[in-house]
Amino acid sequence: MDVLVVEGGKPLKGTVTISGAKNAALPLICASLLTSQPVVLDNTPRLSDVETLLTLFEVLGASWAWSGPQQLTLSAQNVPNRCAPYELVSKMRASVLVLGPLLARYGDAKVSLPGGCAIGARPIDVLLEGLQALGADINLEGGYVHARVDGRLQGADIVLSKPAVTGTENLMMAAALAQGRTRLIGAAREPEVTALADCLNAMGAKISGAGTDTITIDGVEELGGASVAVMPDRIEAGTFMMAAAMMGEGVMLHNAIPAHNQALMALLKKSGVDFAETADSVFIAPRKPYKPVDVTTLPYPGFPTDLQAQMMVYLCMAQGSSFIRETIYENRFMHVPELNRMGAKLVIDDHTVRIPGHTSFKGATVMATDLRASASLVMAALAAEGVTTIRRVYHLDRGYERLELKLQALGASIRREKDSTDLKTPHTSSKVAHAS
Ligand code: EPZ
Repeated sequence: MDVLVVEGGKPLKGTVTISGAKNAALPLICASLLTSQPVVLDNTPRLSDVETLLTLFEVLGASWAWSGPQQLTLSAQNVPNRCAPYELVSKMRASVLVLGPLLARYGDAKVSLPGGCAIGARPIDVLLEGLQALGADINLEGGYVHARVDGRLQGADIVLSKPAVTGTENLMMAAALAQGRTRLIGAAREPEVTALADCLNAMGAKISGAGTDTITIDGVEELGGASVAVMPDRIEAGTFMMAAAMMGEGVMLHNAIPAHNQALMALLKKSGVDFAETADSVFIAPRKPYKPVDVTTLPYPGFPTDLQAQMMVYLCMAQGSSFIRETIYENRFMHVPELNRMGAKLVIDDHTVRIPGHTSFKGATVMATDLRASASLVMAALAAEGVTTIRRVYHLDRGYERLELKLQALGASIRREKDSTDLKTPHTSSKVAHAS
């Protein structure tokens, strides 16, 4: 396993290009299962979660190739094996996104229940109830979901009990090949949902309303290929905005879309951060003392839970105390004990954390616990006095492409090393499955 070693206190200055979005790329890859024609994705990030999904693609019998440094060509001419195994689904829960496409195209699909993960139980009841509404038989057996339908799925009105993001995406893909009209009422409004609808429409689907809470899908008999670009990663962009606000002497983000980060940028502006924006770039003015602000995570367009840990580090540096309330997941404060080991003095009270502010982070050896928590530890390390070693960096590699190289280019002192403390055991320990 790798570690990141960071010598804190270095100012960040210059330009960084934001990569394609993990949470857009994953559903787009699964959308290619809906057609026998090739689908080409530009601006695809090289992330371990993408690699995991491509491994699943191979297990299913579909094929893929990197046709350029960030260009992925996918071909599900036929998909002989329609079972997504526990080993892969438990490693990356977004693998469940193959269920809707395989069921819609073949009438039969089996996917391991993803199980919980570090940040919460993460049930998929919204998806399963939706598929049943489309006429599927759903059987849960031995930890697997077995979904079947004779003939085509039938369009229906589906009221989602929660604006589940991948649940909305899965149902949209299933409904794209159903007979008749489907309306997803109470749908997730994330930009990644809209990006998937745009790709499906490019493949010949008839979808309207994506980005609102009611999405209408008129099913078609079959879908063709398409060539689309993966949208920029709004969570990576938000992470860099906060790192630049904390440590920057003027940082420009290219491929960063302000319209996708309105909740975050409104709070940062209220806290005193100065931005200059275009449609796809954001300049963050040099750092200065910031005011504390209170934050509550919400479904899009509210403040994203995926930026909660990073915002906590930013607020540690503010001139006063603030609160963060996490409303999406039941256990997304695992970064708190690690940040407290660096001097943050955070106090958890149920689903809220009190952040005293005025923190002078001190370097330490810390442990990443989940994807976004690891990003927050990197941010704290950039600000810390002394050296910080961040272990279990594989969490970070799931969702950030070449993060240390991008930070080095901005002037940070950060390097990747092998973890010298890895216990050497006679048998290579099987890679511990982690999902989030
Ligand atoms: C997506 O996960 C993202 N992942 C997550 O990003 C993100 O945190 C989450 O949306 C919320 O924005 C991808 O897009 C691949 P949900 P998803 O279904 O779809 C509850 C990251 O760091 N819920 O919207 O799994 C659930 O328990 C990852 O990139 C139900 O109760 O999230 C959770 O509390 C982490 N029943 C909340 O809704 C359901 O059927 C949000 O879950 C589905 C969800």
